[in-house]
Amino acid sequence: MKKRKNIIKIAIDSPAAAGAGTLAKAISKHYNLYYLDTGKIYRFIAYIKLKFPNKFNYYFLKSKIKSLGSKDLQKKILLSNEVGTQASIISKNQNIRKMVHSFQTNFAYNPPKKFKGSCLDGRDITYKIIPDADFKFFITANLKTRALRRYRELKRLNKKITYLEVIKSIKKRDKSDYNRKISPLKKTKDSLLINTTNLNKRSCFLKIKKIIDKKLKINGNI
Ligand code: C5P
Repeated sequence: MKKRKNIIKIAIDSPAAAGAGTLAKAISKHYNLYYLDTGKIYRFIAYIKLKFPNKFNYYFLKSKIKSLGSKDLQKKILLSNEVGTQASIISKNQNIRKMVHSFQTNFAYNPPKKFKGSCLDGRDITYKIIPDADFKFFITANLKTRALRRYRELKRLNKKITYLEVIKSIKKRDKSDYNRKISPLKKTKDSLLINTTNLNKRSCFLKIKKIIDKKLKINGNI
């Protein structure tokens, strides 16, 4: 694979609803980085499985992934709890992971010229997709805080769901994401831990910005 030289690469891993997506988006905008929420890819596959249960097989999926565009990843339906739960089930499948691996690495290492680099968030980004990232973060928050954030998000989307249902499904997803054999969620030794439980969006952003600016200044990048 061809790799663009001298780009900034940021890798973020996090459990569900820890606020990583919001932060990653803000960081990407600030530093002009090409941003990918990799969870959306697994959610898209889960959606395809739910929509075409009888057609869903390796080749059908491969054709869908081949033509995958940013519009597909913006579908509102991908944010539903049902799709999220299904995503954590299909993401345990090695063939599915292999299929999306090159899409993600290509995104990370070959951002369009107008971007200064890339920023990806997910579960295995720091050690599988961008092991040589310039910055690695593990973003987390306690279970109740994450469940409340996800509950509010789903309510804003007019989804019929209770807080208890949300907490139950996040617990289930955590168990599956942390304990699966293939590409489990983990904090690598070289990742910086950011706990967002008691921080608002702005404070989280400033905390990460400070870390990035410090290293970029040392390296003469800004
Ligand atoms: O991040 P999000 O909650 O949208 O991800 C949905 C599911 O996709 C996760 O629970 C996880 O099982 C899976 N996923 C993954 N690897 C990634 C990103 C997401 O296995 N890099």
